[in-house]
Amino acid sequence: MKLSKRLKHIESMVTPDYTHIWDCCCDHGLLGSALVSRCAAPHIHFVDIVPEIMEKLESNLQSFYQSSPSRWQLHCLDVTAIPFEQYEGKSLVIIAGVGGDLLTHFVNSIHQKHSAKDIDFLLCPVYHQFALRQQLIELDFSLINEVLVEENKRFYEILLVSSSAGNTGNLSKISPVGELIWQADTIEQAKVAVNYRKKTLDHLQRMQQRNAVDIQHVINAYRSVDV
Ligand SMILES: C[S@@+](CC[C@H](N)C(=O)[O-])C[C@H]1O[C@@H](n2cnc3c(N)ncnc32)[C@H](O)[C@@H]1O
Repeated sequence: MKLSKRLKHIESMVTPDYTHIWDCCCDHGLLGSALVSRCAAPHIHFVDIVPEIMEKLESNLQSFYQSSPSRWQLHCLDVTAIPFEQYEGKSLVIIAGVGGDLLTHFVNSIHQKHSAKDIDFLLCPVYHQFALRQQLIELDFSLINEVLVEENKRFYEILLVSSSAGNTGNLSKISPVGELIWQADTIEQAKVAVNYRKKTLDHLQRMQQRNAVDIQHVINAYRSVDV
């Protein structure tokens, strides 16, 4: 099956630096399958908590990728229970298509349990991007790359970040509202950035009017973005 625009962007941000790639919350497994197809790493892991999903995926993978040079493995597990200590070498943990709050919880939990492991994260939350970024900053993660994608009138931030404290060489700090995502190379990308900033500010202003919680500092941060 063809990858959506969002999944294609995520897939294109995977570099050949990893021994293990984990397609977490994999559901249909499209992303991991694309990575197996192009042998993106020696080991590709599919992780989802729903047994029926994993059974169906296993039979699909066996039909299409039985003799792939990338070794693939399925794990019917909660993302927070992945036993990284059993796997040698650098890991890339991909989590996409789940709410930002849940995704933040997953990253937090993995980092608390495996802070000594060399793990990068490729993250694409549905909403709550600001809260996720706040948490990544608190955990002292560094930015490798970030991209903004529009698909079916929805906007997605994709963040590739490193959790390794020793990895700060040529990596950047994570910005609370993003930096590279606003720097467009094309007119089309500039339009996406302008529309995303407007939609985000409209949403935050509605929340500020409705809620007791003061989010003026978040609104100000997005207002100060230069697009
Ligand atoms: C909407 S799908 C995302 C699919 C794909 N990652 C994407 O971006 O298109 C969310 C998946 O997360 C899985 N999931 C939810 N909570 C999970 C958890 N704690 N551990 C592992 N998988 C989980 C669900 O079973 C579901 O298949």
